[in-house]
Amino acid sequence: MKKIFLNLGKQPIANSFLSSISKNSLQKEYFYKLKVCFDTENFLVSVKDPVNPKIQYTDEYAHRASESETMRNAFKLTAKKLHERFKPKKVMEIGSNDGVFLKNFKKNKVIAVEPCKNLANLTRKKFKTYPSFWDKKLSNKILIKNSKIDLVFSSNTISHIPNLKETFEAVYNILSDNGVLVIEDPSLSSILKINSYDQFYDEHVYVFSALSIESIVKKYNLKLFDIEKINNHGGSLRYYICKNKGNYKSTARLKKILSEEKTQGLNNLKTFKNFAKRVHKSKQQLIALLKKLKQKNKKIISYGATYKSTTVFNYCKIGTNFFHYVTDTTKNKQGKFTPGMHIPILPPEIGFNESVDIAYLGAWNFKKEIMKKEKEFRKRGGKFITHVPKVKII
Ligand code: TYD
Repeated sequence: MKKIFLNLGKQPIANSFLSSISKNSLQKEYFYKLKVCFDTENFLVSVKDPVNPKIQYTDEYAHRASESETMRNAFKLTAKKLHERFKPKKVMEIGSNDGVFLKNFKKNKVIAVEPCKNLANLTRKKFKTYPSFWDKKLSNKILIKNSKIDLVFSSNTISHIPNLKETFEAVYNILSDNGVLVIEDPSLSSILKINSYDQFYDEHVYVFSALSIESIVKKYNLKLFDIEKINNHGGSLRYYICKNKGNYKSTARLKKILSEEKTQGLNNLKTFKNFAKRVHKSKQQLIALLKKLKQKNKKIISYGATYKSTTVFNYCKIGTNFFHYVTDTTKNKQGKFTPGMHIPILPPEIGFNESVDIAYLGAWNFKKEIMKKEKEFRKRGGKFITHVPKVKII
């Protein structure tokens, strides 16, 4: 049974940066109610009323996975590791973005699936790209021209697709008998530990745990046989899944993580109710800190126009009442306004200058990379603030 435990209020689509804040554009801005629930039967955490993917994944989709050095390196290493372990003849990626993972394989070995046309256009000249949503129909279409696939990879995408039945049945259809599905998504355990409630936004329809994935894939004749903790996005899990008839045995580290999740209470509604209380407290503390800094006449900006910060800004009602602007390195976010709270976005070359006193770490998941990059800012007394794992000045 699904039980709502967290209400993050009225939220816009996290990737819908506005080109203009004219009355006309604002009237068209789409909002939905972001409520998060826990399923007491399969331990799955999900957004109560998911947004239609056709509104979310358009040809203006802003995120470029290659934007960060951390992610470029992470995908390169992952590709190498998966290649060595499974020696796949054919690799397919669901949600291939700008090709940051697939570019590490030989061109003729890979198939990209990417519904956002602007992103699909970036990779179609390099390797075979299907500009479509992942479903059974597409898996059949791919199989007309290709043999079954022995490695299907999907990073930060499966958790975005509302219809898990269609997704896993299509994967089953395309996988070879001993093929492997590897998925990476933010870890529920980490979110609860570091209070990163901003991992809940329209795209993250699901936040998976080992417990929930184990339970769900069983329904589709698949089995979770291995798992790995990875650092991406503040703590993610990499799940290794094969067909029931596949040759892979459950690993000791899978058993360990399942047991850790039970100890943490990820199979218990009470754990989530307690988390919701911590989220509420985090909101109050962040607003209080910003008010204090503003009273001291500090110039505050936000660093990284992340999807995650859309949740924080709209939940806490933080906008130009506190921030002068947001800086972001992504070209197609620059010159636009953040969804819902309409804060202008500037390129860091212009916005991250001497006049800035404090920067809220919207891209807290790249804290290490950013701290290294912004040594000069910190040397001259500039400070960062964050809400992860708790509200504080860094
Ligand atoms: P991302 O990690 O994709 O988070 P989300 O999924 O919540 O959007 O986004 C990070 C954003 O931060 C991206 O737009 C690029 C930006 N960024 C900077 O502006 N400067 C930096 O130094 C880094 C690392 C990222």
